[in-house]
Amino acid sequence: MCGIVAYKGNKDCHPILLDGLKRLEYRGYDSAGIACLFDSKISITKRAGKVKELQEAINTKKISKDFSTIGISHTRWATHGEPNHKNAHPHIDQSKKITLVHNGIIENYNSIKKFLLSKKIQFKSDTDTEVLVQLIGYFYNQGKLSFEESVRAALQRVDGAYGIVVLNIDFPEMMIAARKGSPLVLGLKQGEFFIASDISPIIKHTKKIIYLNEGEMIVINKEKYEIKSVNKNLVLPKKIETIDIKIDDLEKGNFDYFMHKEIHEQSDTILNTFRGRALKDDILLSGLSDYWKDIKNADRIYITACGTSWHAGLIGKKLIEKFARVPVHVEYASEFRYNTSLINKKTIVIGISQSGETADTLAAINKAKDVGALTIGICNVAGSSISRITDCGVFTRCGHEIGVASTKAFTGQISVLYLFALKLAYSKRTISKLSLVNHIKDEYDLVKRIKSVLMMEDTIKKIAVKYKEASGFLYLGRGLNFPIALEGALKLKEISYIHAEGYPAAEMKHGPIALIDKNMPTVFIVPKDRTYHKILSNIEEIKSRKGKVIVITNHKSKTLESLSDDLIVLPKTNSYLFLILATIVLQLFAFFIAVAKGCDVDQPRNLAKSVTVE
Ligand code: AGP
Ligand code: GLU
Repeated sequence: MCGIVAYKGNKDCHPILLDGLKRLEYRGYDSAGIACLFDSKISITKRAGKVKELQEAINTKKISKDFSTIGISHTRWATHGEPNHKNAHPHIDQSKKITLVHNGIIENYNSIKKFLLSKKIQFKSDTDTEVLVQLIGYFYNQGKLSFEESVRAALQRVDGAYGIVVLNIDFPEMMIAARKGSPLVLGLKQGEFFIASDISPIIKHTKKIIYLNEGEMIVINKEKYEIKSVNKNLVLPKKIETIDIKIDDLEKGNFDYFMHKEIHEQSDTILNTFRGRALKDDILLSGLSDYWKDIKNADRIYITACGTSWHAGLIGKKLIEKFARVPVHVEYASEFRYNTSLINKKTIVIGISQSGETADTLAAINKAKDVGALTIGICNVAGSSISRITDCGVFTRCGHEIGVASTKAFTGQISVLYLFALKLAYSKRTISKLSLVNHIKDEYDLVKRIKSVLMMEDTIKKIAVKYKEASGFLYLGRGLNFPIALEGALKLKEISYIHAEGYPAAEMKHGPIALIDKNMPTVFIVPKDRTYHKILSNIEEIKSRKGKVIVITNHKSKTLESLSDDLIVLPKTNSYLFLILATIVLQLFAFFIAVAKGCDVDQPRNLAKSVTVE
């Protein structure tokens, strides 16, 4: 978790680092800090809370006088130690020579701390991170190892995950960074270097990027940089990539919130997912072509992911089983990585991840690779760890998702899984060409339907505001719409802090119904399919216990009208795509409740966009 930005060049680092931190704030916002080398000293400014607080502190300090061309910065998502000032990064060693920012967890921090305490090193924070900077300082100050060797020696003694950037006052022209488990990228421009957790703080300065791999370090000295291995002093050849992202993709445009903008982008993002892949009578997934024979012959597929991406996995299972008749198991990555493994060389493992950096999903994929299973990544971020370690994959092509609550990435994942299921089914001839052609046609029609759902947002807002004081919600759906109920409930919890639970509609009577009274509203997702009348009975069960009912359907009937307190009628589409329209309604519903409650929609408390720790 957390965001790191570092700069070395010929400009003052402060505005570059502050702007970069703001762009990375979605990754963590417990505290923020900057350290720069200035006048033979390390100058550190840090604040608990958001980057705004840090910016104010820097403005009051009139730091503009402290012109410094080399600095590191951090926006934290606390794992060890309260989110307060003393635990904010950057941390500094006892000799006050070495400073560091860190993303990840040092798992053996306790034993290293004991060792350092026995060497009379005093600690100023409760973080695991401080142990690492003190250890580097300990090696360096013994005078036997160079700066670079000290960093290497310390890193070889820590367990866990890290992305770090380190400065040393004795080497004001040097910057060292390293990664294991937490992403880092290097941006290159004439005479300037940018290091960050992802490309968003870098792209306004340069499009020339090097992605750091596991176990690699960057050593910048004066105008030169080298990529080396953490374990051996070995220079590694690295490819400089040119990335193609516009800075507008990272701005809010005409919207007040990234989440709102991202919900509205879905007609375009879904079209991007289909374009060039859903052809007239065929589906082309070029990222999978080299492995298609194995995929087609798989007798079992595993899907692994976390959070919203896991919900997409549940839909993927239903689509693949329905169309291609291949059994699919869906497992939370955090469970998959430790469960008894039934996977082998013949298993296909699909990892789904917006960020492509989620630690549990990465570990699950690595476990699958270890047994020789074919791994497929469904990621949004090109160049991300998961997209690079998987054997093959399909990008969701949604553009940068900045709102912490995932929206457009989720519908992108469903769209990719829909394409995958149809392609697999057609290759196995479990669906006909005519059926494939009709599905493809429906996919393109969906884009128009999404636009008309987005135009209903005033109605959705009115309904949402009515329920903003509710203390809890149930979300119910069946079949394909059960995962949508889970996702709707997760969105509401994440951004409005209202408790919500998703259940299969018919399962409600086995327990959750005990919660129902006039204060506990239920959201029903009711497509016109063979479960329609069954769900009407479930609604009756809620109504007879005085529960309020909000219905999302694509088929208005008199009964449904009379049973629902609020009814949202969606345009007609096939039942596999109805769930995308229903999702958009639920995203807007959660969004408007959270805004009405005055919540910080884009940066909800305790959360961070990409969970790069276990
Ligand atoms: C979604 O709104 C979340 N904040 C979260 O559940 C997220 O989906 C999960 O952490 C997985 O992230 P990933 O898709 O980047 O792997
Ligand atoms: N484990 C470190 C801490 O709690 C780093 C957390 C982060 O990645 O932000 O300070």
